[in-house]
Amino acid sequence: MTLQAPLAPEYRETTPEEIAARIAKAKEALGSDLVILGHHYQADDVVRWADFTGDSFKLARLAEERPDAKYIVFCGVHFMAESADILTPDHQTVILPDLTAGCSMADMANLDQTEVAWEALTAKDGEDAWVPITYMNSSAAIKAFVGRHGGTVCTSSNAETVYRWAMDAGRRILFLPDEHLGRNVGFAMGIPLDDMAIWDPRALASENLEAGADRAKVVLWKGFCSVHARFLPDHCDQRRKEIPGVKIIAHPECSFEVVAKADLWGSTEKIIREVTGAPAGSAWAVGTEINLVQRLAAQNPDKKVVSLSGIACLCSTMYRIDPRHLLWSLESLVQGEIVNAIHVEEETAHWARKALEKMLELVP
Ligand code: 13P
Ligand code: SF4
Repeated sequence: MTLQAPLAPEYRETTPEEIAARIAKAKEALGSDLVILGHHYQADDVVRWADFTGDSFKLARLAEERPDAKYIVFCGVHFMAESADILTPDHQTVILPDLTAGCSMADMANLDQTEVAWEALTAKDGEDAWVPITYMNSSAAIKAFVGRHGGTVCTSSNAETVYRWAMDAGRRILFLPDEHLGRNVGFAMGIPLDDMAIWDPRALASENLEAGADRAKVVLWKGFCSVHARFLPDHCDQRRKEIPGVKIIAHPECSFEVVAKADLWGSTEKIIREVTGAPAGSAWAVGTEINLVQRLAAQNPDKKVVSLSGIACLCSTMYRIDPRHLLWSLESLVQGEIVNAIHVEEETAHWARKALEKMLELVP
């Protein structure tokens, strides 16, 4: 866990109005040297300062497409900032306003565990029979592993294309670190559930193999998002009972059973597109993080938009990027000090870049 020093009293004890006024001033002072990127799960009081918002794929592209900005302040989580650092040239610095903004799912796969799995899976048929694919929600070390072994990265908006690439090459897939996204996409691509096995990094390699991993077409790493795991199939039934005609849209980090009961599924960007483009009077139950659902509800007053679950599913790590930390990082830049720079060391960045570039080549 990366330590984040507590903010000084001038940031902790200032009113929200004063914080907002100072952010506006710092942004103006930094001008075109600065670009602020915001993921859709950030709260409104952070999103209002973002020059661009997007899903993790769009944000990776945006980072790459802004070579003029010296500083990219990333309002998202650690793996997103790492990817931005990997994709941008050295004269650009990526800053994460709070270093504790991580992702519990990304933390579920580490390099040692991945090497053990890869060695066991490829022992019989060799490396050419397999390809590792990692979800964007993974550390730079895992992306580098994948790059080193001829694999690639995917996001929830392009995973089907990436699967197609692997399947057309006749290769079996080790998918990290989200079991649910891997299964949802595999099933959508016509892979029967029985041809997908689990790799539990906490079990022995031999146990995973005996359970079927070496016979499967797709091996799903046993990782999950603690936010999306809270949506249950019962929530779908409940919402359909409560709201006649409701359409259910879920993020593919939700379980297979939830996605199977939904009308639509897709990345945060797709969720926004579908709800925003829907006719007035339509009703939506949305299975994703609460900040995005609440913003969609506020922006679509002609529709009924509710969370799929009655329990507020908040990404508490994203939430650590608050206006106070944003202000601290911006005012430090104005004073000539770079705080919380995210820098992936060169060897790791080299291989992770290969994996990310492959994704961008497959899905321009
Ligand atoms: P998106 O790529 O759909 O924005 O998802 C990122 C994420 O972390 C979802 O939990
Ligand atoms: Fe990670 Fe889940 Fe938060 Fe997305 S919502 S950043 S997967 S913990």
